Amino acid sequence: MSDTFNAIQAIQNEEAVDVQLRTISKDSLSEGNVVVDVAFSTINFKDGLALEGNKGKVMRKFPMIPGIDFSGTVAESDDSNFSPGDEVILTGWGLGEFHTGGLSQVARVQGDWLVKKPKELSLLDSMAIGTAGFTAMLCLLTLEKHGVLPSSGPVLVTGSSGGVGSISVSLLSNIGYEVEALTRKPEMHAYLQELGASAVISSDQLEESGKIMASEKWAGVIDTVGGDILGRIIPSVKYWGCIASCGNTAGIKFSSNVLPFILRGISLSGVESAYCPIQMRTHAWDRLSKDLPQNSLQQITQKVHMGEVFEVASKILAGNIRGRTVVDVNKTAT
Ligand SMILES: NC(=O)c1ccc[n+]([C@@H]2O[C@H](COP(=O)([O-])OP(=O)(O)OC[C@H]3O[C@@H](n4cnc5c(N)ncnc54)[C@H](OP(=O)(O)O)[C@@H]3O)[C@@H](O)[C@H]2O)c1
Repeated sequence: MSDTFNAIQAIQNEEAVDVQLRTISKDSLSEGNVVVDVAFSTINFKDGLALEGNKGKVMRKFPMIPGIDFSGTVAESDDSNFSPGDEVILTGWGLGEFHTGGLSQVARVQGDWLVKKPKELSLLDSMAIGTAGFTAMLCLLTLEKHGVLPSSGPVLVTGSSGGVGSISVSLLSNIGYEVEALTRKPEMHAYLQELGASAVISSDQLEESGKIMASEKWAGVIDTVGGDILGRIIPSVKYWGCIASCGNTAGIKFSSNVLPFILRGISLSGVESAYCPIQMRTHAWDRLSKDLPQNSLQQITQKVHMGEVFEVASKILAGNIRGRTVVDVNKTAT
């Protein structure tokens, strides 16, 4: 790699945050003890916010490089756990928010944040999974921890055509769960059924807002949307069921009541992926390498180059992206 390289860089001007593809040097990277030649990054909802001029103020320091995850090959290391040539994955740890991120040909990070790529996955596969797939696995581990197994009954996935949703549907169905997929988009029905959903529903089929209790439907829920939809799901969770809550695309507030919790013993369990401990990360990636059907990653993923990331950002914020978008950071045109 030459002294200069391509990165999407955000600079804070007086009036706005200017985010552009620029040629930069390592001086613009945050501090760290491992340098990685990045192969792929991805566009997650949070990256969409950053790329669209720092909506939601997700980037906290400037100049910043967006990109909350990447896969790549170690180029230089002062960390005894990593050597040049090691293939690694990084998700979270404030990347693209406080620490320069993955939408760059080179990243400099803390070795403590890196996971060695499982041999069953390629660098491309690991970013097809990325933060979204890692979060889907943390949600599955949460359901399992609460005793929700394939024999417990159907599991509902909300925001199912999105990144976390698509991988959740594929993952759960591959290991024997009966999966119901909730989507706002009728045109996604065939896609979700191909990923393994046994039923695809719309929010019209949920209980009305304010319902106290309803008949039992789902043993587990992976909820990526939050808001009013979450409130309307809670009355229908089965006895001792669990909702793994990881997202808020439909809003941050919901209203509910205690009866489903104290009469059915249900749980609402939060999932946080960015700062989760390294042992859990290694376990989650190991499970992903075994439990996720590899062929589904192709169905779920589109690949773009660095010149296309802004267009993808607008679409993801409008809720118009299907599955996952991987960015080949070493290409700026097709
Ligand atoms: N807790 C964590 O550590 C963590 C990690 C990763 C992601 N997240 C969060 O999880 C959520 C999903 O992430 P993602 O990467 O999967 O995003 P995504 O690819 O944009 O998918 C989100 C999906 O939510 C649905 N949706 C979007 N806007 C909506 C609205 N206004 N009302 C109802 N549904 C809406 C859409 O699915 P349909 O069109 O199919 O309905 C969309 O595809 C985001 O809130 C993200 O910030 C959290």
